[in-house]
Amino acid sequence: MKMVSTIAEMQRLADDLRCQGKRIGVVPTMGYLHEGHLSLIKIARQNADSIITTIFVNPTQFGPDEDFAKYPRDLDRDTKLAETAGTDILFVPSAEEMYRDDHFTYVTVEKLTDVLEGKARPMHFRGVTTIVTKLFNITKPHVAVFGQKDAQQAIVIERMIRDLNFDLRIIVAPIVRDNDGLAMSSRNVYLCQRERIESTVLSQSLRLAETLIAQGERKCSTVISEMTKLITTTSAKIDYVSIVDAETLREYITLPSGARVLISLAARFGTTRLIDNTIITV
Ligand code: PAF
Repeated sequence: MKMVSTIAEMQRLADDLRCQGKRIGVVPTMGYLHEGHLSLIKIARQNADSIITTIFVNPTQFGPDEDFAKYPRDLDRDTKLAETAGTDILFVPSAEEMYRDDHFTYVTVEKLTDVLEGKARPMHFRGVTTIVTKLFNITKPHVAVFGQKDAQQAIVIERMIRDLNFDLRIIVAPIVRDNDGLAMSSRNVYLCQRERIESTVLSQSLRLAETLIAQGERKCSTVISEMTKLITTTSAKIDYVSIVDAETLREYITLPSGARVLISLAARFGTTRLIDNTIITV
């Protein structure tokens, strides 16, 4: 595996790969890799010839009171994991390399970013779509793999690709969970033992929603209130529990049959904010 830290070298390598007729797959990450990321790298391998994994903790997607400074980092461990999972090139730029002092340009997707995570974290998606655009221009992929764990992020990026005619395919990979159901996240390391045990209630509440809907419940307020009741049996503080159309992110009041819906939630355990979701067809 080759490690690259400059934009110029990464672009040159990507050009070389394209000249050789190789299909490039990119997996953008913020590092502190876990099984979820490794599954994205493996899926990229199945869909491309040369795999670039990027590691960059992107400052522009964190709000002023968020965890940018303490976001977990371990490049040695990440390097080994990325290589074992099948990465050919690990792109690890510095913040100075990615954002010059006079960086004035941002990419924004409207509407889809006003709700859910975008409402709770203003400017977050502007940071995500800007860095993802930059990473695409630097790594020149044919295919990019993102996780469904960040469902709204994947939906926003797919819309950006469509609206701005990016010439690449997005693959959204299923959520990888611990044995007890907790969705894998680099932020899970922040949880103390009690919070880690309690956090399983999030995936349980999503399973509850799936069961209620499978049994015929169509009123979203009923599903949301049952999920809320379950989550609040723990110390969790709910940011939102929501049922929306999985493409437009418009809220449903009653679920129409055939609809593809995103059931998502965000909750805090102490100072740790976790998100989880499921996408189902009614
Ligand atoms: O999902 C993430 O880890 C980040 O939001 C991404 C896509 C790597 C952009 O920084």
